Amino acid sequence: MVANYPSEKLTEPARVGSTFSRHRRFLFSLLTFIITGILFLRPYISYSTIDFSINTSAIELCPKTAALSPSFNTSIDYILNDPTYKQESIHRLSQAVQIPTEVQDINPDPKNDPEFYSEFVKFHQFLDDTFPLVKSHLQKDIVNKFGLVYTWKGTDESLKPILLMAHQDVVPVNKESVNQWKFPPFSGHYDPETDLLWGRGSNDCKNLLIAEFEAIEKLLEDGFVPERTVLVSLGFDEESSGVWGASHLAPFIHERYGDDSILIIIDEGEGIIKVDDDLFIAPVVNGEKGYVDVTIDIIGHGGHSSVPPDHTTIGVAADLITLIESSPFPSDFQLDNPIYGTLTCKAEHSVSLPSNIKNVILNAGLDNKHRDALTEYVSNEKALRDLIRTTQSIDVIHGGVKSNALPESTTFLVNHRVDFHSSVRETVLEDLKRAEQIAKKHGYGLFFEDKFLIKPTKIGYIRVSYDKPLEPAPTSPSSGPIWDVLSGTIKDVFINAFVTNKEHHEKELYVTTGVFSGNTDTKYYWSLTNHIYRFIGSLFNESSLKTVHSVNENIEFKSHLSAITFIYEFIVNVNESKGLL
Ligand SMILES: *[C@@H]1O[C@H](CO)[C@@H](O)[C@H](O)[C@H]1NC(C)=O
Ligand SMILES: *[C@@H]1O[C@H](CO)[C@@H](O)[C@H](O)[C@H]1NC(C)=O
Ligand SMILES: *[C@@H]1O[C@H](CO)[C@@H](O)[C@H](O)[C@H]1NC(C)=O
Ligand SMILES: *[C@@H]1O[C@H](CO)[C@@H](O)[C@H](O)[C@H]1NC(C)=O
Ligand SMILES: [Zn+2]
Repeated sequence: MVANYPSEKLTEPARVGSTFSRHRRFLFSLLTFIITGILFLRPYISYSTIDFSINTSAIELCPKTAALSPSFNTSIDYILNDPTYKQESIHRLSQAVQIPTEVQDINPDPKNDPEFYSEFVKFHQFLDDTFPLVKSHLQKDIVNKFGLVYTWKGTDESLKPILLMAHQDVVPVNKESVNQWKFPPFSGHYDPETDLLWGRGSNDCKNLLIAEFEAIEKLLEDGFVPERTVLVSLGFDEESSGVWGASHLAPFIHERYGDDSILIIIDEGEGIIKVDDDLFIAPVVNGEKGYVDVTIDIIGHGGHSSVPPDHTTIGVAADLITLIESSPFPSDFQLDNPIYGTLTCKAEHSVSLPSNIKNVILNAGLDNKHRDALTEYVSNEKALRDLIRTTQSIDVIHGGVKSNALPESTTFLVNHRVDFHSSVRETVLEDLKRAEQIAKKHGYGLFFEDKFLIKPTKIGYIRVSYDKPLEPAPTSPSSGPIWDVLSGTIKDVFINAFVTNKEHHEKELYVTTGVFSGNTDTKYYWSLTNHIYRFIGSLFNESSLKTVHSVNENIEFKSHLSAITFIYEFIVNVNESKGLL
């Protein structure tokens, strides 16, 4: 493990162009969130000390979402229901999956090793061949060799563009597990019996990328002319943190349009989730936790292990690790946490959630005592607890080389996901405090940010440094005209795609906020807009989601068609809401 110290300094909140982690687990977190939905339903301890007699049904925390139906709706029915379109669309997504655009954890600079990215060249060719109207009507810019920015120029250049994102890359298929795949991972096999399309990338996120192209191609075919420019930005190493892709694409767009120049950004994220038979929730992800890797080196002296000190550097590291793991960061439920939107919608509308849990959720706004009850509930739910605290995970350790030699140094790495209400600095300082405690206990010095806070001793010193700092993302608004167009579009797509009895609305969908604990490529795009939403217009299927980043990745095709419809309707609705935005 390599750590860069001691010259690093804590930086300002990350903006366009900073570098970030490559170990994110965005879709795992997403999956975690879904599982949450199940765990959430189990009975929960009662809060006997708290008075819940206050009548909360008077307050409406999760109101009905109003559908926004575009008047330009030429192809909505066609996309959702035409068998020929479906066959052609299956073929297009299948072909996209068949191009194995895998990336590793660390990838070469595309300028030095373009050969490494040869599948992306094929993928670009595929896009050109498959979407001829996109090719002929949109301007294509190639950024850092394999990043793509498409510009569909609007007729009114004074309007802020909308920006659609996705990534071209997929996580690699583990060679050892290839034989566990029902169909070869890059076959793009479609099974009409189950309506599932199989293969790596089918659900993360060639589906979103292709949905964007399908929708634009169809709008062009329908003769739609946007007043507002539509941009599409496609990274090629999101799965390894966007080091070569998004970190170049965002500055490219920023260079062209400037600060706060984009109306709204949509990227991969949550989808529509089934809560009860007739209850659905669309948790639009409007925030992301922060990130930092803290490296701690215990630097001592070598020597013969026949005359050891009481504690070797490994022993001191172990002591510090024990201290860290025994003192998790505090949990604190703040009502502006995006997950509160999801929780309140379930509490107000789910028939399967026990009433004591509903009360804990709905009363949390009354005072601190009630909010503490929600903190207690959430922190006892394994699938939810990490959404209300900074996490810590000791992921790497190195120390010692030989049985008869004392380890001169021992190094370990603590990965943190920073809570919405904390910061990189607060997180690093907490680790520093723990290191100081152990340094004093064992008589070591302490080094941090260019200087010794405790002088090095004869035994040695502990060095604390950090890497890949990313502040929690700014939370995007969940009200106002932009939100209304977004949520209204989701609701309309839901009705068109999943409600058969439209007059009586036998199924209800609430659009609200949600969150997962990982990061997306959007972390490079903050300066372009404060309206960043991570959402795919599909009905999420638990069994399909479990396959993301794993074997047998698949997607229900009906859900892919609704994702296409969502992009189609969103572009039109934004155009038709011009006066409001
Ligand atoms: C709670 O408030 C609602 C709406 O104001 C009212 O209909 C209901 O009767 C009230 N329930 C109680 C127990 O006071
Ligand atoms: C399209 O618009 C027409 C006229 O407003 C309406 O009757 C029809 O139901 C719409 N179709 C869809 C799929 O929204
Ligand atoms: C998810 O997909 C499976 C088929 O793989 C299907 O049996 C199940 O009903 C789907 N669940 C939902 C909630 O749509
Ligand atoms: C776009 O919206 C404007 C009103 O904002 C409308 O006049 C125009 O017809 C719309 N374009 C299309 C193709 O629907
Ligand atoms: Zn993804």
